Amino acid sequence: MLLQPDKRLAFFQGFLRKPQRVGSVVPSSRFLERRLVSVSAASTARTVVELGPGTGGTTRALLRALPREARLLAIEIDPDFAAMLRREIPDPRLIVERASAEDIGALLDRHGLPAPEAVVSGIPFSTMPARTGQAILRAVQAALAPLGRFVAYQFRDRVAVLGREILGEPEVDLELLNMPPMHFYCWRK
Ligand SMILES: C[S@@+](CC[C@H](N)C(=O)[O-])C[C@H]1O[C@@H](n2cnc3c(N)ncnc32)[C@H](O)[C@@H]1O
Repeated sequence: MLLQPDKRLAFFQGFLRKPQRVGSVVPSSRFLERRLVSVSAASTARTVVELGPGTGGTTRALLRALPREARLLAIEIDPDFAAMLRREIPDPRLIVERASAEDIGALLDRHGLPAPEAVVSGIPFSTMPARTGQAILRAVQAALAPLGRFVAYQFRDRVAVLGREILGEPEVDLELLNMPPMHFYCWRK
């Protein structure tokens, strides 16, 4: 599905509000969305957490793949993006929280959700303080189910550097059909 121009505009406006926090001027391509769905094994998951859904292209792709009884907890720090997701994606499997990624454990508890089989993240680790990035990675590691996957798609390798002591060595892949090409870092707990 092609992204509508108003989504691109909303994303760009989000970038202008907080360039470092949004980290990109355009949302992910549909090729990246497809790869995210397959690397996270979303089609067999019961609980998935998305960190940084933005305007929701990746969120919709995950929802298309998730089983009917699954839940997707989307944690978005930007209040305008969070409100837009709630308004525009009326899927009963989706829970949108306006919060920061470090709160993943408390948010799963609040909604009575089991440990997720997958956590996916597009938040830009390269532009946040190291301490914040490490706090997020520790919270993800604590939250994941045994053998659960953490998938981070990133322009730069900062997440792998920060994650080495917390999560170990990731598998790394590259999605060329995105602007710019995007690395996928994937860990199994
Ligand atoms: C590069 S955009 C990715 C958007 C979308 N998932 C995509 O691929 O098109 C990064 C998103 O992460 C959000 N974000 C940044 N830091 C965050 C944090 N600590 N917790 C939750 N969301 C965060 C930003 O507001 C932005 O929506």
